[in-house]
Amino acid sequence: MSGTLNLTELREGGIHDLPRVAAIMQEAFDARFGEAWTSAQCMGMLSLPGVWLVIASLAGADTGFALARSTADESELLLLANRPAARRRGIGGALLRAVMAEARERGAVRIHLEVRSGNDAAQLYRREGFDKVGERRDYYRGKAGQLFDAHTYARDLP
Ligand SMILES: CC(C)(COP(=O)(O)OP(=O)(O)OC[C@H]1O[C@@H](n2cnc3c(N)ncnc32)[C@H](O)[C@@H]1OP(=O)(O)O)[C@@H](O)C(=O)NCCC(=O)NCCS
Repeated sequence: MSGTLNLTELREGGIHDLPRVAAIMQEAFDARFGEAWTSAQCMGMLSLPGVWLVIASLAGADTGFALARSTADESELLLLANRPAARRRGIGGALLRAVMAEARERGAVRIHLEVRSGNDAAQLYRREGFDKVGERRDYYRGKAGQLFDAHTYARDLP
């Protein structure tokens, strides 16, 4: 894992990165579950105050990203994705920790996120100190119209 992380770079992203973000998102999210956003949704969100983007590259190629928002003393992880070919080498965790560090810099004392019930990403969130704090019924609408519950996770940012 440390070999991969040595080749991983994190940088702040901007509007100009959105085509790359859209490409990663299309590869990363399974269309069955309705978790991915459209480019227009990403652009609209990134234009709002308090929203930021972190891009991860592996050996010079962009592979993952995180989108997050801070308001007052709370933050929210909006999206986290990494290309399937580069998974389980610590890149998702590195993005998540970068978001938490930036959230603290911006004055947040707590961070929240939502994840589809059954998404293996929940294991990563628990490992990074998040606890499940709630459920939202029928939060995601999949490609074929099925509805999936979301679980809400949160953790303090000491
Ligand atoms: C979530 C995601 C960003 C993680 O990226 P990653 O680079 O693999 O992250 P890491 O390597 O740091 O950690 C992966 C951890 O997730 C969990 N995990 C991921 N896939 C898993 C699987 N198939 N089975 C069990 N655990 C799994 C494990 O805890 C794993 O850690 P481990 O490899 O040490 O066992 C990536 O899986 C992804 O893009 N998923 C699709 C998009 C998504 O669902 N995003 C989250 C909701 S916004």
